[in-house]
Amino acid sequence: MLFNLTEEHLMIQKAARDFANDVLKPGVIERDEHQKFPAEEIKQMGELGFLGMMVDPKYGGGGMDCISYVLAMEEISKVDSSCSVVMSVNNSLVCWGLETFGTEEQKQKYLPRLATGQIIGAFCLSEPEAGSDATSQRTTAIDKGDHYLLNGTKNWITNGGSASVYLVIAQTHPEKGHKGINALIVEKGAPGFVVGPKENKLGIRGSDTHSLMFTDVKVPKENRIGEDGFGFKFAMQTLTGGRIGIASQALGIASGAYELALAYSKERKAFGKTINQHQAIQFKLADMATQIEAARLLCLKAAWLKDKHLDYNMASAMAKVFASKVAMDTTVEAVQVHGGYGFVKEYHVERLMRDAKITQIYEGTTEVQKIVISRALLA
Ligand code: CAA
Repeated sequence: MLFNLTEEHLMIQKAARDFANDVLKPGVIERDEHQKFPAEEIKQMGELGFLGMMVDPKYGGGGMDCISYVLAMEEISKVDSSCSVVMSVNNSLVCWGLETFGTEEQKQKYLPRLATGQIIGAFCLSEPEAGSDATSQRTTAIDKGDHYLLNGTKNWITNGGSASVYLVIAQTHPEKGHKGINALIVEKGAPGFVVGPKENKLGIRGSDTHSLMFTDVKVPKENRIGEDGFGFKFAMQTLTGGRIGIASQALGIASGAYELALAYSKERKAFGKTINQHQAIQFKLADMATQIEAARLLCLKAAWLKDKHLDYNMASAMAKVFASKVAMDTTVEAVQVHGGYGFVKEYHVERLMRDAKITQIYEGTTEVQKIVISRALLA
């Protein structure tokens, strides 16, 4: 068993770290405060290849492995999770879903622009009454021969306002339950498709999260992904990989907060010495570093399984449930190490603490991950 990263992995990690520090860090507090979508930053991420990392180069992607993606997600998330959630959704849900299950025409039409960030995508599964219980889709896609007629509302859609391409999950044959669900590609501007107002969120405030309303939207049949009724399995398989992305985001939030706490502890003096000389702080740092290392290994293990085309369903759920808890615990402790300074925006850790919470909710709550893990154990 080898634990070292390749030269290429180290280069990607460094490129992401440099980009995060040089480009994302300067404006991150302002974007968070004003809920400003990082449009220019996302454009640059696309140009650098961070938005289609695993996509085949023949469709404009980087052709990289999932380990590279985990490393880059961690570095970007140390600094700005509003950018890394765009990166995660675009890479894991939209590009991977289209490349794995789309037709050649769909891939040719959408992937080159998605993989290079000329446009970004959104993944639309959640509804007002279908969050964790994803089979209970109320949005309908009625078969009208050469097209589907789409009606319904989607909630909590990341990239909801800024995307150009939406992968929408909807029920076509209610009598068939999850086997009657389809995944459709819907383009922005389709008549009857309305983007609701931006949500005012606790964390990842730069990312744009919206409700979407569909009223008699005509979606051509050729925009269906996979066979009739494949939509639920499309969503589940896509989310399985997506959970590696969100686990890596949580890892990055935790390691970003830890690095800030470590640096601060070397500077701040109390009772005649720097606070890192006090065992109370040393124990916190030791706990943080140990938990982060364990989270990192789970993320890399899930990515390694995916790269080897082995079953990564349980591994991705384990990585997400563990890394998101580590993100919460570490960011709370990082604020504590900073004392009063941790409570103000300039020191970054309060934002990381707010950003951490969503990693226990989106792309499957902690409770959903535990369902996935326990079902795999009991199977
Ligand atoms: N891969 C492939 N197939 C899968 C699968 C997977 N990971 N998980 C389930 N399936 C299949 C099952 O095998 C089953 O197929 P058969 O009937 O042919 O046997 C079918 O799907 C139904 O599976 P279940 O009976 O297990 O379904 P369930 O209703 O019990 O739900 C669940 C299981 C795990 C709770 C699922 O509903 C789930 O993951 N819910 C959470 C949804 C979620 O993550 N939402 C996040 C929204 S997206 C988002 O947040 C993106 C963003 O903006 C950042």
